[in-house]
Amino acid sequence: MIIAANFKTNHTRLSTIEYLEKLDNFLIKYSIKDEVFVFPPFTALDIYNISDKINIGVQNAYPAYKGSFTGEIGLLQLEEFKIKNIIIGHSERRHIFKESNEFIVEKFKFFKDHDFRIIYCVGEPKSQREKGFSAVMEYIYSQLENIDLNYDKLIVAYEPVWAIGTGLSAKKEDIKEVMDALREDIKAPLLYGGSVKPDNAKDILSVKNCDGLLIGTASWDVDSFCEIINISKMLAEEK
Ligand code: 13P
Repeated sequence: MIIAANFKTNHTRLSTIEYLEKLDNFLIKYSIKDEVFVFPPFTALDIYNISDKINIGVQNAYPAYKGSFTGEIGLLQLEEFKIKNIIIGHSERRHIFKESNEFIVEKFKFFKDHDFRIIYCVGEPKSQREKGFSAVMEYIYSQLENIDLNYDKLIVAYEPVWAIGTGLSAKKEDIKEVMDALREDIKAPLLYGGSVKPDNAKDILSVKNCDGLLIGTASWDVDSFCEIINISKMLAEEK
């Protein structure tokens, strides 16, 4: 399984270091086999003194090596910290920062050309969900247009907009329906994100075709994130 923590605009440089040390000790102590990702804010990026059990990535970046892009971070800045993982197309980038699908596709192509592991996010808003399953899939496929689904470093995260940060996760059956449909066209790992917590992680991780979780709120506390990783470990042992 892949278990990823998206810090969004949370944690400082100091608290990120403390978090990563605690997480790293946990992963080593319990011989965790899951692939674990952490996406801290830019200001907390560093060459951390941790094992290679944690993959560090960025939540966003500008599709250029360097240049005049005020307020943005390019490849040059990521190279300094040996970053090779990125989240692209997160719903907060799409909706709050009005990133168009064209721009998101441009980012995807740029970071694919630079060999990044890409967590590419898709997911429908509430209005689309209310129209039913075909409308949901139509929306998701429009977000996948011009994305190379055969890219070997692609991970797709299904994050319904209405489930993000609301405490209201999608139902197991709804997640399964979307994952099953995506699996027909996508070989890449499929993650679910949206109000994942220790309480519902087991149910969601048991969904067929769900290969992991992209977690916001419940990942910001290291104990809660470790609890979810532990649930994944126990599930694997049950199999
Ligand atoms: P929450 O877990 O806070 O709902 O956020 C999900 C998310 O957006 C992860 O990228």
